[in-house]
Amino acid sequence: MWKPPEKIRFKTSMGHLPDPQEIADSKLFSPLDYQRLHLDNRSWLPAMVPWRATNDGEVTREVLDWYGRFARSKPAAIVVEATGIRDVPSGPLMRIGHDRYIGGLRQLIERIGEESEGATRVFIQLIDFLSIRRRQKAEKYLERFLVITDRHRKLLDMEEAREFDIRQALIEMEGEGLERILAEREYNALTYGARELVTDTHLNHIADLPQVLPQLFADAAIRAEEAGFDGVELHYAHAYSMASFLSATNNRQDGYGGERTHRVRLPREVFRKVRECVSDKFVVGARFLANEIIDGGSDVEDACFFAVEFARCGMDFLSLSRGGKFDDAKQPKVGAAAYPYTGRSGYECMPQFISDKVGPFGRNFADTAQVRKAVRDAGMQTPVVVAGGIHNFEMAEAALKGGKGDIIGVARQYLADPDWLLKLQSGHGEAIRLCEYTNYCEGLDQNHKQVTCKLWDRTELDEPDVLKSRDGKRRLSAPPWSAK
Ligand SMILES: Cc1cc2nc3c(=O)[nH]c(=O)nc-3n(C[C@H](O)[C@H](O)[C@H](O)COP(=O)(O)O)c2cc1C
Ligand code: SF4
Repeated sequence: MWKPPEKIRFKTSMGHLPDPQEIADSKLFSPLDYQRLHLDNRSWLPAMVPWRATNDGEVTREVLDWYGRFARSKPAAIVVEATGIRDVPSGPLMRIGHDRYIGGLRQLIERIGEESEGATRVFIQLIDFLSIRRRQKAEKYLERFLVITDRHRKLLDMEEAREFDIRQALIEMEGEGLERILAEREYNALTYGARELVTDTHLNHIADLPQVLPQLFADAAIRAEEAGFDGVELHYAHAYSMASFLSATNNRQDGYGGERTHRVRLPREVFRKVRECVSDKFVVGARFLANEIIDGGSDVEDACFFAVEFARCGMDFLSLSRGGKFDDAKQPKVGAAAYPYTGRSGYECMPQFISDKVGPFGRNFADTAQVRKAVRDAGMQTPVVVAGGIHNFEMAEAALKGGKGDIIGVARQYLADPDWLLKLQSGHGEAIRLCEYTNYCEGLDQNHKQVTCKLWDRTELDEPDVLKSRDGKRRLSAPPWSAK
């Protein structure tokens, strides 16, 4: 992963541990009610893909255990990992693109309900993404995948030559020469792997996205409601289709790109379709970016505009993330695909303990606060989820009281210690295992390996019933804890 050049090291701290009165008076442990969203307190486990589904995207025992373990400490809400809305092979990413997934998802709801004794609201993050290919060996790409065009013929001065000879000429060329002859997209496909963009409107299936995506999201939401979820989170963040429509880099000419009002059109249409197809008590919100952190990308002003539009449409919550784009991703090795969390924008999404002066804790606070203020100034009270490096009571409380958000999203601290909230609440705060923000977990995620935390994955491996990773070396969920 990219790291800020300053390389300043940060350490987490327990902060002030609250006494029972402080807990009773706190914002963190106060309920929230807005439209259909009813939370017992302000804690929220944002989506985290743990790579535990089958290769067909089905719920497994490992998936049930992963969420069951989090549910035991009764977070107010769990957002189940990014789950694909199409019925197409997507590796071990969870899927909801067909009715056959409803049974497994229903089991998941039952398990979370049992473990949390009904205290946790459960949402599922619905994702759509475009195709991305692995980087090929240069020779293979030039021989088989590159479409030879007049541009190549002209620049090579081989206008009458056979296609085979043009390919051979390109294969014999060095990097810089190729960069001159190939169009920018072709050169990117050669050096990073081919990737579809929402602006590839010469491809019918990309041109048609505004026609097909609203119903695909709506069908997925209908299934989610049937399975028993309390609601859905529309994934409008990071590197995927919907975020790409919102991005300032989207220059589609069909009314779905260019100025902000056009870029927000499809995300709004998707929301409206979903809302129309689910019951009135079903929660629908979105996760999107407070800042894309890429050259020419959307900034916080765009995010404020989108947030107000989403709030006006009637979304039940707005969850803000940051960065996580393909645009600045590291070049993958031959045989691997680019990963959107390897560049600077990826760092901003999941900041690590080696950082710059700003540090890894609360990097998205200022932008999220600005977005929330824009929504409030427009006269709406839509709850905002703020996330990024939150790991103790003091920080959570300051964020809530300081208007950074209405709900705190805590991902890696929940992974490091699924019982952190319970420990706080029961007066066992000193027993909390603090996340170190090393991003060991994120490294596993990047390689599509089952995600675990380095603070507990080699602990008590021989206990009965411990589910282990495929190589048998790591336990898949945190050791049990109880307040004796
Ligand atoms: C292993 C892992 C998987 C993640 N998967 C998702 C995901 O599916 N969808 C999403 O919106 N964010 C995902 N994230 C980002 C987190 O939800 C969160 O925004 C980010 O980790 C920053 O919060 P934190 O500092 O509390 O960890 C993931 C993060 C990690 C560490
Ligand atoms: S591996 Fe554990 S300690 Fe390290 S960043 Fe992930 S959750 Fe935190």
